[in-house]
Formats: sequence, structure tokens, C-alpha cells
Amino acid sequence: MVLVLGIESSCDETAAALVDGEGGIVAQRIASQDAEHAPYGGVVPEIAARAHAERLAPMIEGVLADAGVSLTDCDAIAATAGPGLIGGVMVGLVSAKALAMASDTPLIAVNHLEGHALSPRLADSSIEFPYALLLVSGGHCQILRVDGVGQYKRLATTIDDALGEAFDKTAKILGLGFPGGPAVERVAKEGDPTAVPLPRPMVGSGEPHFSFAGLKSAVLRAHESGKHTAPDLAASFQQAAVDCVVDRLRIALESMDDVETLVVAGGVAANATVRAALERLAADHGMRFAAPPPALCTDNAAMIAWAGVERLGQSDPLDIAARPRWPLDPDAEPVRGAGVKA
Ligand code: KG4
Ligand code: ZN
Repeated sequence: MVLVLGIESSCDETAAALVDGEGGIVAQRIASQDAEHAPYGGVVPEIAARAHAERLAPMIEGVLADAGVSLTDCDAIAATAGPGLIGGVMVGLVSAKALAMASDTPLIAVNHLEGHALSPRLADSSIEFPYALLLVSGGHCQILRVDGVGQYKRLATTIDDALGEAFDKTAKILGLGFPGGPAVERVAKEGDPTAVPLPRPMVGSGEPHFSFAGLKSAVLRAHESGKHTAPDLAASFQQAAVDCVVDRLRIALESMDDVETLVVAGGVAANATVRAALERLAADHGMRFAAPPPALCTDNAAMIAWAGVERLGQSDPLDIAARPRWPLDPDAEPVRGAGVKA
């Protein structure tokens, strides 16, 4: 039986998992750092790195014990090598290097974004390439064409905020706490999505790129007007964001005529309103729709182990560097108005 150990530490989840060659999750543990970061309203890199350093080694030991296996039973050790908060990435990658060296097991340095991009195949092995991928997380908001492992063509990105970031900022404006995405979704259930008129940035543009900074500012102004309740603001924000995503994807799909599957991955893919809208969009286009279960949308180590399974046979040298930035499509053109985000 193929067995890969996965390690994830690029943001605020410390995670380890063992995944087999068929995508079976043999064991997994995950520790979120929500409590540590909540007082600051966002992830503090230094606190995150220290928490990973404290928790990761015992967690890996625990996962191996849960499965009743040892490191030498693993065919590879896959660890996130970027992009992400560099202190945390280094903790995970250096741990993986040490374990690989000690057990003479191949190291696979995984791009965290590839972990998200391939996660739908972990959840459902019948999903085949090529597929259209909406990758929406706290740091990224992209539309990609996925032709195979390592074959990504970026069709769209955000010129300012990522979608998860917009959810987090909206939560902060509304005083809903951290992490923001799940809080906005929860509160939005009590609100009217048509109550607050909000802009749909980029809608109608011929290029499929995203922009969410203006939407966030509009939420702030609407909140400061004192005329709206938090549930109405949350629901209206969420609806505006979903309308943007659907419009942008419609444009991107025009250039993917031969693609039969639409996939969503990344933390925001856990959002039920987003999933429902994409399912309708896929149906409109006669496409199959796939989304991993919510627990595999947010950061986890099973998706990193799975990326390792998909890359089995390859290995990376022990001097490979941790990368704060690591675009999935290195050939993608910079977008006018975009900052440094990959
Ligand atoms: O993929 P992820 O766990 O970490 C990154 O790689 O960034 O994504 C985290 C992002 C956060 O911005 C979080 O607020 C958002 O995903 N998120 C959600 C939901 N769950 C997580 N956004 C909207 N609705 C949710 N249910
Ligand atoms: Zn992520």
C-alpha cells in the first residue's frame, strides 16, 4: 500500500496526515491557532511560527501512532514549501527534511496552492483532467485551467484583495471576530441579501480578473451609515461577492470550451452559498461540478499528502528552499493594477 505523510504549516493551521494511494485518509490531526490570533483580529506571523514549532513534532508522532505505522512505512514525506508565511513554512519544511534524512525517505516539496488545486481528486478520484478551477483562499483568488499535475494555466487573478480576505475584512468591520469567513456565512443566514446596495467590482469586464477592495470599502461605508443590521450587511456582502465570482467565471469559461468539469477549492469553497451558485453555473454550462467536503477546503495536511501521492516518484533535494511566493503558473502575465500577490 502506498502511504504518504503530509505536513502543512503555511498559515495558522498546524497539520499532519497520512494518505494512501487511493486517497484514503489513514490518519490526520489538525490544530488551529484561532485562539492565539483572535485578539489581534488576524494571523500574526511570529506567533504562528512559534505555535507550529511547538506543535508539529508531537503531532507527526501522533499521526503515525494513530495509524500504527512508522516513518519507514511511508513512501514519501510531502511538506508545504510555500507560498505562505515564511516562518511557518520553514518549520514544516525543515521538519520534513530532518525526517526524510533520518528515515531515508524521499522528500516532496509541495506548493500549497497545488495542494488546494488537487484536493478535489483526493475527495473524489473520478475527477479527471482537464478541469476549470476556482481557487479561493485567504491569500489567493484565481481561475486556473488544470491540465494535469504541475500543468496550470492561470486565466484570472485578483488585482487587489483575495476573496477570503474580503470575507475576513467584512467580518472585522462588522465586529464578528476571527476567522471571518465562517462568521460572515453564519450571520448572513439571518440577513436579507438584497437589503444593502453594494457594488459588483469588475462585473461586465471582458477580462475575467477579480477586485474586492471596493466592495469591502462599500461595506465599511454602509456599516458606518448606521442604517443596516450586521446580518443584512453580511448577507448583502456575500451575495455581491458570489455575483462577482459567477460573472468572472462565466467569462473565463468562454475560453475553456473543451473542459467538462468545474471545480472549486480553497477555504472559501467551504461556503455553502458560493458552492450553490457554482453548482448552478456548472449546470448552465452543462458541466460537472465538484467541491471537496468543507474540511478539505480549508487548510489541511491531507491535501498536501495527496499532492505527494500525485507526485510520487519525484523527490526534492534536502537543500530546497522555502518560498514565500510560488505561483502555480510562472508564465502568467502580471495584471494591470495588481500588487505583488501571486
Ligand atoms: O485555504 P485557507 O484555509 O487558507 C489559505 O490558504 O488562505 O483559506 C482561508 C480563508 C479565510 O479567508 C477564511 O475566512 C475563508 O477561507 N473561509 C471562508 C469560509 N471558511 C473559510 N470564507 C467564506 N465562508 C466560509 N465558510
Ligand atoms: Zn490554503
